[in-house]
Amino acid sequence: MSGAQLYDTIGAAYTVTRRTEPRIAAQIWAALGDARTVLNVGAGTGSYEPSDRHVLAVEPSALMRSQRPPDAAPCLVGSAEHLPFDDQTFDAAMAVSSVHHWRDPIAGLREMRRVARRVVVFTHDTTATGWLHRFWLTRDHLPEVAGLLAGRPSVTELAGAIGARMEPVPVPWDCADGFFEAHWRRPEAYLEENVRRGVSVWARVGPDAERRAVHSLRDDLASGRWAERNRDLVDLDAAELGLRLLIA
Ligand SMILES: C[S@@+](CC[C@H](N)C(=O)[O-])C[C@H]1O[C@@H](n2cnc3c(N)ncnc32)[C@H](O)[C@@H]1O
Repeated sequence: MSGAQLYDTIGAAYTVTRRTEPRIAAQIWAALGDARTVLNVGAGTGSYEPSDRHVLAVEPSALMRSQRPPDAAPCLVGSAEHLPFDDQTFDAAMAVSSVHHWRDPIAGLREMRRVARRVVVFTHDTTATGWLHRFWLTRDHLPEVAGLLAGRPSVTELAGAIGARMEPVPVPWDCADGFFEAHWRRPEAYLEENVRRGVSVWARVGPDAERRAVHSLRDDLASGRWAERNRDLVDLDAAELGLRLLIA
């Protein structure tokens, strides 16, 4: 299933839990520098679009486009791999939480590079030594996530394709955007159906793995095992979980 088809299937509840996290937005907008014209690729419902610049959005899923607020930037139907613009049309192109859904991420990044003078991408380092082992949810309850990563380019390969530098993005403990890692210090949130429905990982691992992971987490919370295993997290205000800005 393509990333667009996936979001046409699971995207209906997106805005219930997914919204702009101001601290991450500030980091993305700083990386856009003095860009006045910005293309937002895989724009979804419009999170992270800066209101003080001219933004044009591209989004392949009709269900996601239908949830854009009336005052959001204009949005075209399209995919990262084939951007319908001339070379260097925009000062900057941004993509937030989208690259891991693209059929061909390297081709999409090269397209962004082609149509814009600056490229800013929010994604995560999914290498085994990074994210899988740093994040307790994948490490202890949902190892199936490793299977989703097979054959996908690493963050280093993504950065290399467009000559990008990488900047770590700490995840605040009270992160307002309910992406997969957002509730790292609020583990009970993952027991809530609507929190899981806003994150594609749960749909992609399938209902059996989801059910097992939720039971396993519920047991660990009740027995005190979660608190014991993760006692180093509870005093942190932000966590380094492998989230990255690629800036080229
Ligand atoms: C997790 S959502 C992120 C949406 C938005 N950028 C945000 O931060 O809330 C991922 C988005 O990528 C879009 N997408 C999937 N495949 C794509 C592709 N090949 N090119 C561009 N966008 C794609 C999906 O339709 C979905 O709207």
